[in-house]
Amino acid sequence: MADIKITNLDKSYGNVHVLKDINLDIKSGEFIVFVGPSGCGKSTLLRTISGLETISGGTLEIAGRVVNDVAPSKRGIAMVFQSYALYPHMTVFDNMAYALKIQKFSKQEIKEKVEAAADKLQLTEYLKRLPKALSGGQRQRVAIGRAIVRDPKVFLFDEPLSNLDAALRVKMRMEIAGLKEQLPGTTMIYVTHDQVEAMTMADRIVVLKDGIVQQVGTPMELYEKPQSLFVAGFIGSPKMNLLTGAHAAKFDCSTVGIRSEHLDIVNKGADWEGEVVHTEILGSDTYIYLNIGDEELFVVRQEGNAPVKVHAKIGVKAKEGRLHRFDSEGKPV
Ligand SMILES: Nc1ncnc2c1ncn2[C@@H]1O[C@H](COP(=O)(O)OP(=O)(O)OP(=O)(O)O)[C@@H](O)[C@H]1O
Ligand SMILES: [Mg+2]
Repeated sequence: MADIKITNLDKSYGNVHVLKDINLDIKSGEFIVFVGPSGCGKSTLLRTISGLETISGGTLEIAGRVVNDVAPSKRGIAMVFQSYALYPHMTVFDNMAYALKIQKFSKQEIKEKVEAAADKLQLTEYLKRLPKALSGGQRQRVAIGRAIVRDPKVFLFDEPLSNLDAALRVKMRMEIAGLKEQLPGTTMIYVTHDQVEAMTMADRIVVLKDGIVQQVGTPMELYEKPQSLFVAGFIGSPKMNLLTGAHAAKFDCSTVGIRSEHLDIVNKGADWEGEVVHTEILGSDTYIYLNIGDEELFVVRQEGNAPVKVHAKIGVKAKEGRLHRFDSEGKPV
């Protein structure tokens, strides 16, 4: 069991207040993703959990024990970073065995643990190779294997896929999500600024901005019921259409939001009308970019190859119950 409870946590560097009154309850075995823009404090929060950073205020409990002053090595935690920093002169096996050797495990125990981890990560056939003879994704798996062999209660990942190309990221994303099934008792916290990773991997997402937790919820809760304008704009790709001024006033709010897939093209009774500026035909979907007289283009998603010509004037209507309305403070109306 490795519940993590964070209460009124604060972190400052000198007079720079980086994390502000963070409260989080993470259940044992959960896959939690911290997401937010660059500099919002994701890595700092992860590092305070690992013990690599001290806490300025509040408490951090792991498995029911306050660990504010417990050394990183005594917290039952393993961390995987963006730069996986394998030892270049050691084979895959030795890289994975290193921490166990230091902890004085027997040769037999080390062999068993490394082979079991290699099997989970499909690295068995690479155990004798040096890191330079591996692909980026394989190296990242070794870095994960190195953490798995230590049998951590809590697994922390800080943007582990950001050095990989798009196709490999998708593959590794699935593999890391698969780890959840293979290590059901392990609590995982994963930092990313990629909201697609957050949506696809998390049991629950924690959205951070300026060191403050904006919202915590399942991916679909955040997607369907954003509790602020910030979360509405941050979660979802393409970004939610957000309109102000007269466009919003007619819906009695300061900002009105509608996702591109929640719009129908209509001949009568349109909520918005505009000229088609550009279309993107992706095969499965078409994205239509409309100029409705707002600064930003309005994005409409249609299934398949939508027969809409550039310069055509079209009207669109929000599907029932899909509008998001926000007040001048960015809170839902
Ligand atoms: N040692 C330090 N001294 C002073 N300020 C720091 C220190 N480390 C981090 N910060 C500041 O704390 C804030 C949060 O940094 P952090 O690395 O947690 O951001 P992040 O959300 O992980 O961003 P990114 O997505 O770019 O990795 C930043 O404004 C950063 O400049
Ligand atoms: Mg970071």
